[in-house]
Amino acid sequence: MKNILITGGAGFIGSHVIRRFVTNYPDYNIINLDSLTYAGNLENLRDIETFANYEFVKCDITDRAAIEALFTSKKIHSVIHLAAESHVDRSITNPIDFVMTNVVGTVVLLNAFKAHGNVTEGRFYHVSTDEVYGTLGDDGKFTEETPYDPNSPYSASKASSDHFVRAYHETFKLPMVISNCSNNYGSHQFPEKLIPLMIHNIKNNKPLPVYGKGENIRDWLWVNDHAKAIDVIFHSGKNGETYNIGGNNEWKNIDLVHKLCEIMDQKLGRDAGESAKLITYVTDRAGHDFRYAIDASKLENELGWKPSVAFDQGFEKTIDWYLENEAWLENVTSGNYQAYYNNMYTNR
Ligand code: NAD
Ligand code: TYD
Repeated sequence: MKNILITGGAGFIGSHVIRRFVTNYPDYNIINLDSLTYAGNLENLRDIETFANYEFVKCDITDRAAIEALFTSKKIHSVIHLAAESHVDRSITNPIDFVMTNVVGTVVLLNAFKAHGNVTEGRFYHVSTDEVYGTLGDDGKFTEETPYDPNSPYSASKASSDHFVRAYHETFKLPMVISNCSNNYGSHQFPEKLIPLMIHNIKNNKPLPVYGKGENIRDWLWVNDHAKAIDVIFHSGKNGETYNIGGNNEWKNIDLVHKLCEIMDQKLGRDAGESAKLITYVTDRAGHDFRYAIDASKLENELGWKPSVAFDQGFEKTIDWYLENEAWLENVTSGNYQAYYNNMYTNR
């Protein structure tokens, strides 16, 4: 059995990665290490938590002593590192948390893997974002050669952690791989992010806060296709390399919100156009990147990955999941969420 440490497995993308690895690789022992911040939720993993090749460890990646102890007690073959503070708006109000988890936490893990991990056969996989490249104008796409130019505290922290992972490869010959992915959508996403936030508000007849003029563009990828890409890169990617992951699926925010409103009207039995009346333009996000778009041809040509699901299909599946899992949505939007929401959106 190879011990594969996956960090951040109780979060949105991490839970999909854990599920995929636990079910597809019975000869791996999957250790999910997560500190269960507001974004971590073990409910996301109820269906696989009793599998023999899965275990959960509650631990903060910035806790050097605890991370060292874990790496010395278990021979870790490889690390797939997803744990992070992930929301741009929170990084604007509280950047230090992003430095601690995303930068310091990543270096703590790199040190532990360097000292105790299987550096001859295993690897350190850093899961990162396309936001490290900054923003695009109307044309062009991010490639692996696009210079880093992060604009938000979130993307600056992810860029920094990417640089540390590369520096450990150059300096210590640590086997590593990085992927930079575009915006994900799918089940189990915390409703601070655009799509689940809008679904929750439409359901509850609350205003739909569209930043600025709604003209910013994002390239949306189904989360299971991201998990599949991580699987392919983990097993077949070349050490020292970066791979961009994207859905070739650009949407202007306002068009995406209108599409969501149309589908929600049908699903909730509302008159056409009713949910769209909730759209409210609010003050723009500071430093709001205009457009992200990914050129994923390296991953497609070298490793044979491509998205498996057309956007219409994945989007409808996603909406159905939130409507069918009302208890999940109610649970994560109770308690501290209300304070977060009021702070971020009241009188905006
Ligand atoms: P998320 O916020 O849903 O989950 C993050 C997880 O990390 C949570 O389970 C949380 O409890 C855990 N965590 C946070 N701080 C921790 C700490 N100090 N120690 C241990 N665990 C901690 O995030 P996500 O959207 O699933 O993103 C996962 C990764 O993928 C992140 O590294 C993010 O930068 C990257 N990414 C996300 C997207 C996207 O669209 N969401 C796109 C590209 C890349
Ligand atoms: P988000 O889901 O936060 O992802 P990211 O900022 O990492 O791309 O936001 C996606 C887009 O939606 C982004 O352009 C900001 C915009 N947005 C809104 O217009 N209103 C909202 O309430 C949120 C959360 C995001």
